[in-house]
Amino acid sequence: MKVGVIGTGYVGLVTGACLSTIGHTVVCMDNNTAKVEGLRQGVMPIYEPGLDELVAAAVAAGRLQFTTGMAETVQDSDVVFITVGTPSRADGSPDLSAVRAVARSIGSHLDGRFRVIVNKSTVPVGSGNWVRMLVEDGANLVAATARSGQHAGNGLAVLAPAAPPNFSVASNPEFLREGSAVWDTFNPDRIVIGAEDARAVEVMRRLYAHWVSPADTDTQAVPMVVTDLASAEMIKYAANAFLATKISFINEIANICERVGADVTRIAEAIGLDKRIGRSFLNAGAGWGGSCFPKDVSALVSTAAEYGYNCELLKATLSVNEHQRQLVIEKLQRELRILKGRTVALWGLAFKPHTDDIRCAPALAVAEHLLNLGCRVVAHDPVVTAAQVQGQLPDLQVAGSALEAVQGADALLVMTEWPEYGGIDPQTVAAVLRQPIVIDARNCLDTQAVQGAGLRYVGVGR
Ligand code: UDX
Repeated sequence: MKVGVIGTGYVGLVTGACLSTIGHTVVCMDNNTAKVEGLRQGVMPIYEPGLDELVAAAVAAGRLQFTTGMAETVQDSDVVFITVGTPSRADGSPDLSAVRAVARSIGSHLDGRFRVIVNKSTVPVGSGNWVRMLVEDGANLVAATARSGQHAGNGLAVLAPAAPPNFSVASNPEFLREGSAVWDTFNPDRIVIGAEDARAVEVMRRLYAHWVSPADTDTQAVPMVVTDLASAEMIKYAANAFLATKISFINEIANICERVGADVTRIAEAIGLDKRIGRSFLNAGAGWGGSCFPKDVSALVSTAAEYGYNCELLKATLSVNEHQRQLVIEKLQRELRILKGRTVALWGLAFKPHTDDIRCAPALAVAEHLLNLGCRVVAHDPVVTAAQVQGQLPDLQVAGSALEAVQGADALLVMTEWPEYGGIDPQTVAAVLRQPIVIDARNCLDTQAVQGAGLRYVGVGR
């Protein structure tokens, strides 16, 4: 099938690369010329394991192209994905200006051939109808311009579309995680399609046949959940809100554990063995960050408020998460007493390992707080660069190696559980730290090895 993908952020690029890998012909469009130019030369705008190889192979096979042209993207495609950003505004509601502009523009390029316009950006519940309206507006505008042009006898006026726009809107939320986005796309737990009509469902079933009805009879078919538009949109929010709540739950349990002398890692292990609970997303720590959980939980709370519902549980999910960062500072304060004038080594800036994404990263929030309290903060991250944090935190120093960051520091604070930090010999850390204090805000270091090196170990909930 021919697929157009509008917006080459995380979701768009990964979706385009994976769909072309399974045999579709994909055009990825972005209005950022430099980004498109880079992609044409194999430069990925994001750090995502496996993505560059996938893109290179699909481009070489002639199944993936990058463009800045909206007209060719829409006109050549059977399915057009909207995968533009929906960042949070100050009040927590999502900024939908990019979706609005793209939907209108798609409408202005439609003709009589049937297309499915798929919303993959995370938009508030009810947006499917709104996207339909915008696409129609875009199409009507072209028709009206053409009519008025003809009426005025203006030879330069655009041509009227040959037939009324023929499209259906679908919602196809993604559940991919940064750092394992390619793996997640190839190994989905389910494919969710919200559709207006059976025509769209049929097209989407063909698009995802590789997973939904695999040709290889030994391969397990992935369940496809077909719903109305609003339910599909709600599934995405509910999934993220549930996972965020699960983490805030275990963080709250961790805080109780610290008071009663229990170990939250053992609690997570034991309750996780209950199939109704499950072990994943039960790692206590400095709380969740990233581009999805903070934005989506806040957006759900704000949508509910618009409809007159007060989300008490989700508000608690947000406030436990906020508090979790504060607790890291309190732990440091307990160990060092006065923070002003101290040097803190901070390992890990990304919001989680295997990504260079620092959006809503707990590490940056904690670093900012420490800088405001008069600390010198020397950070290290295996992939986040000094240039990335410069604009946000100009006073944050970024060291070239994990050990360099620790040199002469009053305490080591681990904020992201990059596997390589666990591989650093605590003896070498102990040899260069000014004071023997390690705050492991991700419970990722070997407690006994750290203590064995004569360091004081402070974890979360243990
Ligand atoms: C998430 C969802 O998992 C994904 O399905 C959705 O499409 C987008 O949002 P992502 O933001 O990439 O993906 O990261 P994820 O791995 O889910 O982690 C989110 C945050 O939760 C990270 O800050 C991580 O450190 C934190 N986390 C995760 C915990 O603190 N404890 C855990 O047990 C798991």
